[in-house]
Amino acid sequence: MRALVAGITSRLGDAVARELHARGATVTGISRSAGSRTKPPHVHEQRSVDALNVSELALPMQGVTHVFSCLGASVQPTLSGGRASFDRVDVPANTNLIAAARDAGVERLVYVSVAGHERASHLRYVAAHEAVVQQLRSSGLSYGVLRPTGFFSAFDSMLSMARMGLIPLLGPGTALTNPIDDRDLALAAVDVLCASERIERDIGGPQRVTRRRIAELAFQAVERKPRILPVPSVLARFNAWWMRPLLPRLGDLIAFYSHVMTHDCVTEAHGERTLDDYFAERSAAGETPLG
Ligand SMILES: NC(=O)c1ccc[n+]([C@@H]2O[C@H](COP(=O)([O-])OP(=O)(O)OC[C@H]3O[C@@H](n4cnc5c(N)ncnc54)[C@H](OP(=O)(O)O)[C@@H]3O)[C@@H](O)[C@H]2O)c1
Repeated sequence: MRALVAGITSRLGDAVARELHARGATVTGISRSAGSRTKPPHVHEQRSVDALNVSELALPMQGVTHVFSCLGASVQPTLSGGRASFDRVDVPANTNLIAAARDAGVERLVYVSVAGHERASHLRYVAAHEAVVQQLRSSGLSYGVLRPTGFFSAFDSMLSMARMGLIPLLGPGTALTNPIDDRDLALAAVDVLCASERIERDIGGPQRVTRRRIAELAFQAVERKPRILPVPSVLARFNAWWMRPLLPRLGDLIAFYSHVMTHDCVTEAHGERTLDDYFAERSAAGETPLG
């Protein structure tokens, strides 16, 4: 297998590359910043490619048999991730990737969307991911789609907040979810990439927790007394509304977070790793990148 991992600089992309390499695949990794980063030993070749520019995809796609994409605008609610929202990044970039894969005769492509899309299709973040899924369905390619709950890596900022002594929480914190370790998700992603049938699968981790419990686990990991500041979700929805015209990605993200913080999002359980163990591991490592 010759695999292309689009989004190689993400925690998930790296874990997928590691697993592909362990199963004997030759891996090329792409992202905008990949070329300027140190290439890990499990990646054969790493290139800087902006997938918004379709002409940049032909070269890395040469000879590739399988493509995995977790490419998308950042889900971190910071301004450093850029202003452009998911419909202006994820949709055109992955549409280009699908077209380039088809042109290059790629056998199979696996894409990462988001859990709970049926109840959240009104949210732009979710709609953008499902627009890519739609492209994939009509592409003629053999494909798989994984729709995960929140990745453990997305909760890293909670540890920093816990260390500072306060975590703000949108809504009452009673909504349930089963987040998944990026490494467990990677194993499932490679299984789906190695399969041949059409697969669309919602996926989460083994442990069901409320949003409040996640914050408590972060405090527990840094050995501090929990101090949680409840924030009315209506305030977040108002912020999402006024931000949208000025800072579309941030506005769309806040709207999404406000939804998931107040609605249960529990899917099929997969993997072994729990959030308590992950927080303990991250805290012990001083929140440095995982190897
Ligand atoms: N995090 C979660 O909890 C979660 C949950 C469900 C679904 N998802 C979805 O899963 C996917 C991966 O999430 P993540 O948290 O791992 O994201 P991430 O860390 O922000 O990774 C996104 C990757 O895409 C690359 N990228 C962005 N724009 C690009 C472009 N124009 N051309 C080429 N590469 C580009 C980034 O690298 P460069 O910056 O170097 O380009 C990065 O490697 C996203 O679609 C996300 O919406 C995430």
